[in-house]
Amino acid sequence: MSEPILEIAGLTKTYAGGLTALDRVDLTIRRGEIFALLGPNGAGKTTLIGAICGLVRPSGGTIRAFGEDLSRSWRTARQRIGLVPQELGLDMFDTVERQVAYSRGMFGCAPDKARIEEILKSLSLWDKRNEQLRKLSGGMKRRVLIAKALSHDPELLFLDEPTAGVDVELRRDMWKQIGKLREQGVTIILTTHYIEEAEEMADRVGIIDKGRILLVDDKDAMMARLGRTEAIFSLEAPPAAIPTSLAHYPLTLDGNELHYRGGDGAGRGKQEVAAIAQQLTREGIIFTALEQKESSLEEIFVGLVERGEFAGEGAAA
Ligand SMILES: Nc1ncnc2c1ncn2[C@@H]1O[C@H](COP(=O)(O)OP(=O)(O)O)[C@@H](O)[C@H]1O
Ligand SMILES: [Mg+2]
Repeated sequence: MSEPILEIAGLTKTYAGGLTALDRVDLTIRRGEIFALLGPNGAGKTTLIGAICGLVRPSGGTIRAFGEDLSRSWRTARQRIGLVPQELGLDMFDTVERQVAYSRGMFGCAPDKARIEEILKSLSLWDKRNEQLRKLSGGMKRRVLIAKALSHDPELLFLDEPTAGVDVELRRDMWKQIGKLREQGVTIILTTHYIEEAEEMADRVGIIDKGRILLVDDKDAMMARLGRTEAIFSLEAPPAAIPTSLAHYPLTLDGNELHYRGGDGAGRGKQEVAAIAQQLTREGIIFTALEQKESSLEEIFVGLVERGEFAGEGAAA
């Protein structure tokens, strides 16, 4: 297990209006990992990143980066951190190359034309280097944000919803880019509300909702746990209890409905639902209807909370 690069303890943020956007967040990030912070809109993801990058003043708690307390070593730590923000915030009349070179200077790095060229080429921006930003497509603008964040060769990179609103092709492209950065040893924290993105990219996944980290786990374990497939069997004559031959499936009996919630991103849910249907028939339990769907992230959250999956765990990373 590699050393921690970021250690967050009891981090709380209450905005001026009284809203608590972060509620005693504990989180440890290891050097070299890709960590996906998954949560619905308003969960506190951007606030958390803002607190680490010095854009949001915490109300309580501590953040240690690179082994030092951020409140004391903020300036030096920030030079080792890259941020691809959720909002564009670019100077639309400046050119691509100038903006990226300027960012590098902002973080105290000596000018390095060759390095800027390398970054722009790796993001397919080299041909556009003399274009004004306003002339670029939304996807290209996003690439410029990434180039800016990489301009000072950060060890720790934050990507705040990097693929929200971009097309499928660019999303794939970005995932590839992120994979390359990982190979170079960059530690990456990305936020997303797409389960697929967390699944594709991350080594570990943390779930945040209403300012609280609910669960942190290795990607595969988390994906199995999120239970994305939902099915309802309408039973003609419900049994008193779920037969033992079905006991190992994530099923609950509710009146004359048998509810299933399970599966992962790899189609296990559908296979299990088919197997359950066969087994019901073998048991002589007749169902008159079967409804099946893939749940949204919000629905999964509600399901997890209702099943008490979050009780007594989570914060420990
Ligand atoms: N500057 C602010 N002032 C007051 N409330 C804010 C501010 N920024 C965010 N919030 C609120 O804090 C909560 C978390 O927001 P945010 O961190 O942006 O969530 P996410 O990035 O997960 O969508 C939301 O309820 C949001 O409305
Ligand atoms: Mg956000």
